[in-house]
Amino acid sequence: MIKCLLLTILVISPISICAKKDLMINECHNTQVPSICMQCLESDPTSVQANPVGIAGIILQCLDAHLHIIINNITDLSSKKDEGEVKTALEVCKKDLSMNVATNLSEAKRSLKTGDYDKVNHLIELALGFPLQCLFKLKLVKFMSPQLSSQINIYGQLSDAAMRIIDRF
Ligand SMILES: *[C@@H]1O[C@H](CO)[C@@H](O)[C@H](O)[C@H]1NC(C)=O
Ligand SMILES: *[C@@H]1O[C@H](CO)[C@@H](O)[C@H](O)[C@H]1NC(C)=O
Repeated sequence: MIKCLLLTILVISPISICAKKDLMINECHNTQVPSICMQCLESDPTSVQANPVGIAGIILQCLDAHLHIIINNITDLSSKKDEGEVKTALEVCKKDLSMNVATNLSEAKRSLKTGDYDKVNHLIELALGFPLQCLFKLKLVKFMSPQLSSQINIYGQLSDAAMRIIDRF
């Protein structure tokens, strides 16, 4: 804030950039996971110009990107397993994520564009159920991958951030 004020005294143009950066910080501050939220927004150069709906859209893109990391991780883990209950569970997870979650997230993006915000949140929540179920299924067959758990955890936190931002529309 102080930095923004100093900059505005020196030159006029950064005013709007600083105000927008404040919007990002403010939107993320209202989530439970401000640092993951900011990390996502900072990965997209258009977020400084985005309004709150645009910010929600960028978080949806981060969810998509994360989904792909998770699917790749699962593919990688599955390729190293012999046939058996662990491989089967990993393959079920992969199918759920690449079909159900991907479908629900693209529907969420469409609903964000049409302004059906309740539907967006419903879809984000629905989509999140699949990776969480996946962790549960893997636990049942006693398969542990700290890396996969941590990626799914980040996915969950991004989902939470998106839902909280959208809740305020
Ligand atoms: C999971 O994906 C991340 C990011 O792409 C990568 O760094 C990591 O090595 C992957 N882990 C597994 C087990 O595939
Ligand atoms: C979520 O995805 C599943 C699987 O593709 C689909 O059957 C379901 O209709 C989707 N839910 C909504 C609300 O679009």
